[in-house]
Amino acid sequence: MSDSPQAPRGTYDVLPVQSAERSLLIEIAEEEFELAGYARIDTPIFEETTVFARGVGESTEIVSKEMYSFTDQGDRSLTLRPEGTAAIARAYGEHGMHKLPAPVKLWYYGPFFRQEAPQAGRYRQFFQIGAEALGSDDPALDAESIALLDRILRRAGVEGYRLRVSSLGSAPERRAYSEQLKGYLRDHDAELSDEVRERIELNPLRAFDSKHPGTIEVMKGAPKLLDTISAGDRAHFDEVLALLDAAGVGYEVDPSLVRGLDYYTRTVFEFTSDRLGAQSGVGGGGRYDGLVEMLGGPATPGVGWAAGVERIVQAGEIEGARTPGELDVFVALETGADRAAAFALASKLQESGVAAVIELAGRSLKGQLKQASRAGALRVVIMGGERGQYDAAIKNMDGGQQHELSGLTADDYLERIIESLTEDMEAATAESAQ
Ligand code: HAM
Repeated sequence: MSDSPQAPRGTYDVLPVQSAERSLLIEIAEEEFELAGYARIDTPIFEETTVFARGVGESTEIVSKEMYSFTDQGDRSLTLRPEGTAAIARAYGEHGMHKLPAPVKLWYYGPFFRQEAPQAGRYRQFFQIGAEALGSDDPALDAESIALLDRILRRAGVEGYRLRVSSLGSAPERRAYSEQLKGYLRDHDAELSDEVRERIELNPLRAFDSKHPGTIEVMKGAPKLLDTISAGDRAHFDEVLALLDAAGVGYEVDPSLVRGLDYYTRTVFEFTSDRLGAQSGVGGGGRYDGLVEMLGGPATPGVGWAAGVERIVQAGEIEGARTPGELDVFVALETGADRAAAFALASKLQESGVAAVIELAGRSLKGQLKQASRAGALRVVIMGGERGQYDAAIKNMDGGQQHELSGLTADDYLERIIESLTEDMEAATAESAQ
């Protein structure tokens, strides 16, 4: 066995062949976020542990089992962020964002960390895009937030996904419901999985998420939170649904929908795709009207979601990604050609927005042309002649035609080559537009 280090379990390297698609997804998302009035926020990769312990909830699996927490040299307990919402709620309070015109709409993209059992689509470091809107409890904000993710998924070519929505109501009804559900689960405890049975007192709602056949059967007959929420919360939920209808967003109301984080109130939702395996959740979120206050800020309603970048890329068909290595110009050198001139040419081309590389591996001219074609170069500039002479040829890799530029001088060769290349490229663009 080799002792060469490998990426830590549950993490992966994003190789160049994968990064083009990911970048395009982020571009699509950024465009949609901006169209909906969201501005980017970046919070630290680690936070004081209490942000997540209090925000996400001690009884959740994320906090009780999955956090990467450590003590730093100053004896502070810190945690690699397992999610973004609690951190953003912390930042909202810390920066007095309640003084900004409401709602404050924020979006983010970056890595998150959970020590889960790795499997296809489930990693210990994964990337999320997410959106949070704070400062308003208007149901239109819930519907807008959901429609935004729906649009991003469609533009990313994710097909056949389902959107499930529900309402968890507010704390008093949820507390009463929780007692009712605990009683029901205790009455059926022999049929439940060990894990669900052990968590009846701590987190009875998670029983709805169980994959254990006995538990699934029991949960079919369980009382549903959606039937017990207050009239005000019901009206809020009905308005969210009416606005989703108005926006043409398809959904199913699923009263058994629960989420793995404790901060939710009222609306919750989840997008799943049947193109993914067991880890079918593409994105999810909901309303969290008490979270900012729980973290010491002013009472502030909020709603948002996060979606897994790896899962969107896997379930989607992202079109138009520039393939890695796609190149406008390869600068090749004949034996004895002026390397500094070739270097200056590639550098000037890059400066003017043309993707250009220079031969760097000591290949023969034949080898360079092969490499240019392998790299997908559209054109090759062959720098010729001895040092002091500035002949060049431009070869079109598409049709194979080549034209020579001769009589170039030390003063004008760069401009002349660039001029000729630009004319060539413009002619090709005009032709392909016809
Ligand atoms: P979440 O449901 O825990 O919600 O995660 C959101 C999405 O992140 C999931 O649907 C999934 O696509 C992706 N994800 C989660 N864990 C993993 C993992 N281990 N590997 C790969 N992908 C993963 C939240 O994080 C909330 N902060 C969402 C939210 C925002 N609610 C309100 N605002």
